Amino acid sequence: MKNKIQEKFRTLFGEEGRFFASAGRINLIGEHTDYNGGYVFPGAIDKGIMAEIALNGTDRVKVFSLDYDEFVEFGLREEDKPIQQWARYIFGVCRETIKRGGKVGGFNAVFAGDVPLGAGLSSSAAIESCFAFALNELNGNAINKFELAKIGQSTEHNYCGVNCGIMDQFASVFGKKGCLIRLDCKTLEYKYFPFDPEAAGYRLVLIDSCVKHELASSAYNDRRASCEAAAAAIRARHPEVEFLSDAKRVWLEEVRSEITEEDFLRAEYVIGEVQRVLDVCDALERNDYETAGEMMYQTHFGMSRLYEVSCEELDFLNRIARKMDVSGSRVMGGGFGGCTINLVKKELCQPFIESAVELFTTRFGHAPKIYNVVISDGARELE
Ligand code: GLA
Repeated sequence: MKNKIQEKFRTLFGEEGRFFASAGRINLIGEHTDYNGGYVFPGAIDKGIMAEIALNGTDRVKVFSLDYDEFVEFGLREEDKPIQQWARYIFGVCRETIKRGGKVGGFNAVFAGDVPLGAGLSSSAAIESCFAFALNELNGNAINKFELAKIGQSTEHNYCGVNCGIMDQFASVFGKKGCLIRLDCKTLEYKYFPFDPEAAGYRLVLIDSCVKHELASSAYNDRRASCEAAAAAIRARHPEVEFLSDAKRVWLEEVRSEITEEDFLRAEYVIGEVQRVLDVCDALERNDYETAGEMMYQTHFGMSRLYEVSCEELDFLNRIARKMDVSGSRVMGGGFGGCTINLVKKELCQPFIESAVELFTTRFGHAPKIYNVVISDGARELE
């Protein structure tokens, strides 16, 4: 990938720039908890974005995307927003850096990536954190890593219409080889957990349903609104509840008749999920992968029946996993399509993958994709 980027950069701009990279992410458990002030447990992966970038001394940004085979040029003022979605991620990062008092000079860039799109592996966070990190270095700004993650998150909010939490951009900026990171999204305290399933006889297998629901971003924003409605009702009785994750299960019961049944079920899922992250971390510290896996099934049930962010294809993959005695399986990320993440005993990997591919293809008429991921480093400059 690096050679192709370098070649294109030279052809377009006749010079050399500096290389930066960032990563997509997985999340072992803790889904839809980030914007509720709860815990998440993600890690960066060995699939990401690579970019060659150089300041060009003007106030124009000139970027070529190798994957879209498309060149876009834009200015740095609010009214210069490009129409291409991929370019909006970069434009948003420039604007959000400027809003935080950072300097952003015009630049030339060529980039490419290998995060599968629409698979729930956060290809957009990879672009955002790669450019946020690079612009910080190139312009000599001293923006800290949390702010770099927030620059990506605000880009989604203000330039892409997704009211997301901080998990994806956090994982992409803070990712460290061989470690999952438990983040408390309320206090922003985090802890690295060495994660080596291979050593315990397990593998993580991602199965991509290759389904992407069109209304995913509005459905996502709608889930978030439900959580806020439930939290507001609880707060009226228990003012200490800032986020839904602060609420006890019994407090939610108290307001059941004051909120819609839909909001109640969604809130019920979130409160359970926050606790599951802590339980999984405890289990892994005891090397108890079976308990961690069982929690993943519970998360799937909650995401499917209570939070309603699964779909037929993902539920189907989850049932196959259960039938084949796979240790853990669930829909990963925002939902409405994308991947299941499966914790599989090594000896079961091959038969599980073969059966899942065969049964899924027969049922839905297209094959799912299988990804092996390695937990890797996040945003960085390359030599
Ligand atoms: C998407 C969002 C994240 C998070 C997950 C669900 O990936 O970008 O902030 O809310 O969904 O856990």
